[in-house]
Amino acid sequence: MATRAATKKKPAAKAAKSSKAVVKKFETVLVEKKDRIAWVIMNRPEKRNAMSPQLHLDMNDALEELAIDDSVDVVVITGAGKAFSAGQDIRLYFRGTTGDPVLRHKSKNASHHWRWTTLSKFPKLTIAMVNGFCFGGAFTQVSACDLAIAADDAIFGLSEINWGILPGGIVSWNVVNTMSYRDAMYYAITGDTFTGKEAAAMRFINKSVPKARLKAETTKLAKKMMKKNPTAVRYTKEGIRAVKEMSVDQAADYLNAKSDALKYQDPENGRQKGMAQFLDDKTYRPGLGEYDRSKDL
Ligand code: COA
Repeated sequence: MATRAATKKKPAAKAAKSSKAVVKKFETVLVEKKDRIAWVIMNRPEKRNAMSPQLHLDMNDALEELAIDDSVDVVVITGAGKAFSAGQDIRLYFRGTTGDPVLRHKSKNASHHWRWTTLSKFPKLTIAMVNGFCFGGAFTQVSACDLAIAADDAIFGLSEINWGILPGGIVSWNVVNTMSYRDAMYYAITGDTFTGKEAAAMRFINKSVPKARLKAETTKLAKKMMKKNPTAVRYTKEGIRAVKEMSVDQAADYLNAKSDALKYQDPENGRQKGMAQFLDDKTYRPGLGEYDRSKDL
C-alpha cells in the first residue's frame, strides 16, 4: 500500500512547473505531455506498432517514469499511424528470440511487466485509446488499462489461431475476464475480426467514437476524471480489480480496510470536504457530480 508521503500531491503551481520537464526520448515509444495528460505512443507505425523486444523495454521505462511524475494525472496508451498495435512482433519477438534464450526471457518478462503488472496497478488513471489495428498480444494492454475507448472503425482480432498458436501470455485470461465467455471463445477460436463499434457493444471497451473525434473524446474523458479526487479514484480502481477475485466476505473485509486506508491517506481530505460542501454549504449534489476540489474545507 502507498505511504502517506507517496500519495501526497504537490501544490498546483509546483506541479505546473515540473510539467515543462524535458520528456526523455525512446527508440520505439513517444511520450507527449499536455495539460497533465501523458500520451504514451507505441511508435513503430511502419510495422503497425508490432511489439518488439525494444518496444517492451521502452514501454517499461516510460511507464515507470510516468508513475512517479508529479506533472501527470492521466496516462493514455495509444499507437502511431493507422494501428494501435499489431500484437507481438512475429519477426523480432518470436522468430528473433528463438535461438537466444536470454533475449527471449528478458523480452517475455518486459512484455508481461508493462502490459500487465505495471498497467493494471498503475497509480494514476490509465486509458487505452485504440486508434486502429489491435491484434493478439495488444489485447492485454487494452484490458489492463482502467478505461478503453476506440475509433468506431478500429479493427480488433485474436489472430493467433490464424497462424497456429493460441492467445498466450495472459491474453486468453484477459479476454475471458473482460468479454463474455461466448465472445471470448468465439473470437479466440475463429480469429474473426471485430470493429471498435462491436467492441463497445460487447463491452470489451467502454465506448467507440468516430476516428476524427477520438483524441478529443479521450481528452474529455481524461479531464472529466481529473476533476475527481485522485486518491479516491486510485483506491476505487484498486478496489474494483481486487474484489473480482474475492468471496463476498473477503470483499467486505477488504473494502472496510481499504476505506479506512483512504480516509487516512487522502491528502485533500475529500470525504470531509465533500460532506461539508453538500451538507453545510449546499453548493453541490454528490449524486450529480464531484465536489469542488479547489475550495478549502
Ligand atoms: N509482427 C511483425 N511484423 C508485423 C506485424 C507483426 N505482428 N504486423 C505488421 N507487421 C509488419 C509487416 O510485416 C510489414 O512489414 P514490411 O513492410 O517490412 O513488409 C509492415 O508491418 C506493414 O504490415 P502490412 O501487413 O503490410 O500492413 P497492413 O496495414 O496491410 O495490415 C495488419 C496490417 C495488422 C492487418 C497485418 O500487418 C497483420 O495481419 N499483422 C499481424 C497481426 C497479428 O497476427 N498479430 C498477432 C501477433 S501475436
